[in-house]
Amino acid sequence: MTNARAAVFASGTGSNFRAIMETDNLLCDVVLLVCDKPGAAVMEKAEKFGVPTFIVNPKDYGSKANYERVLLEKLHETDVTWIFLAGYMRIVGPTLLGEFPARIINIHPSLLPDFPGLDAIGQAYEANVGSTGVTVHYIDDGIDTGPIIAQEEVPVNLDDTKEQLTERIQQVEHKLYPQVIQELVKENR
Ligand code: GRF
Repeated sequence: MTNARAAVFASGTGSNFRAIMETDNLLCDVVLLVCDKPGAAVMEKAEKFGVPTFIVNPKDYGSKANYERVLLEKLHETDVTWIFLAGYMRIVGPTLLGEFPARIINIHPSLLPDFPGLDAIGQAYEANVGSTGVTVHYIDDGIDTGPIIAQEEVPVNLDDTKEQLTERIQQVEHKLYPQVIQELVKENR
């Protein structure tokens, strides 16, 4: 059976992108990195793994719908059937959502519905919660609101710095996201 084909959308350092790429026997081929921030560190990682990068600046397209139509064309051209968001800092609009129903997933560094949006780790840290975690979920038109697929708790230690907590959360992200991807792709090739 041929592998499914996936695009990763990322705008940041790309540690989750790397974790996906380093997964043994990944059941899908990551054939495209979509990046909306020229110069983002994730681009070097894509080069290292030989994954073509599609860099798009939404500001060049006037509207979200126009921007997403350009993405859509590229995704169809590359025969992508899965989209994994990994630090893509935009809300996905109806143009993409409508074409990839239940095929766009995201990873978020909190136990949703707690601490959606920006700096989820900082939000949890400031709130002095005893534990936070990681969520992988389907995307809908809200901010980190789509149906939850998997979660893993990460305890917050009393003497944790925000950096220590961040590191432990990232370790869980790098394990959980590839695991979920493997399961979903296996069930829905
Ligand atoms: C991760 O914490 C992810 O949960 C969030 O954005 C961050 C991306 O980090 N959506 P990286 O670029 O994968 O290192």
